[in-house]
Amino acid sequence: MAAGYETTSTALAYATYELARHPEVLHKLQAEIDQLPLDNDDMSNEETKKYLDYDIVAQMNYMDMFVSEVLRMYPIANTVIQRRASEDTVVQGIQIKKGTLVQADVYSVHYDRELWGPEDPYVFFPERHQTKRHPMAYLPFGAGPRHCIGMRFALIEMKILLVRLLREYSILPGEHLESKFNIRERAVITPEEVWVKLVKRSD
Ligand code: HEM
Repeated sequence: MAAGYETTSTALAYATYELARHPEVLHKLQAEIDQLPLDNDDMSNEETKKYLDYDIVAQMNYMDMFVSEVLRMYPIANTVIQRRASEDTVVQGIQIKKGTLVQADVYSVHYDRELWGPEDPYVFFPERHQTKRHPMAYLPFGAGPRHCIGMRFALIEMKILLVRLLREYSILPGEHLESKFNIRERAVITPEEVWVKLVKRSD
């Protein structure tokens, strides 16, 4: 349950936080969503709905960069990326004894200026994902044969939710957006509360 639900919902909480803080990002995302060839009347048909949803999210470049940037800045499952050495080894001059537990420091990698510049890695900037990066620079889902098994499902789920939400609503900062945010380490690394306002777009 923690791997399947807590992760995706927490990542979406961070997504709404960043959308509330960056109206220009929200507008770009809504512009991409508004161009999608989706007829809302078709949503009553289950088969059409399934086909359109998958098809939609696969072709959304800005959405992909947006979600990637959310997970770069908030690698919510950093603490589970661990490996135990099965034999004595040396990595970059560091001796690692058999049985040692090694924890990946994903935050340092995701906020590294050389890997993620020239734009400040502490700034939310989806377009940085247009540039090809080092294959190990982006680790929200871990790496190697034991990387997240639910990655593709999680990405599709998040993108579909964002399409449906942002098609109808805009997200504005709520009263306590910053003061209640307070990131905490629980089952995943999560904000305490995300205060946003949903405003119907047709209003
Ligand atoms: C945004 C959403 C998610 C994030 C950021 C995330 C992240 C991670 C990370 C970092 C790992 C450890 C990978 C490693 O050690 O290299 C992992 C493992 C795992 N994840 Fe996810 N995950 C997400 C969603 C999901 C979903 C939706 C499912 C299931 C439907 C899932 C199932 C699993 C499982 C079963 C493992 C263990 C894989 C193994 O040990 O072989 N995850 N995830």
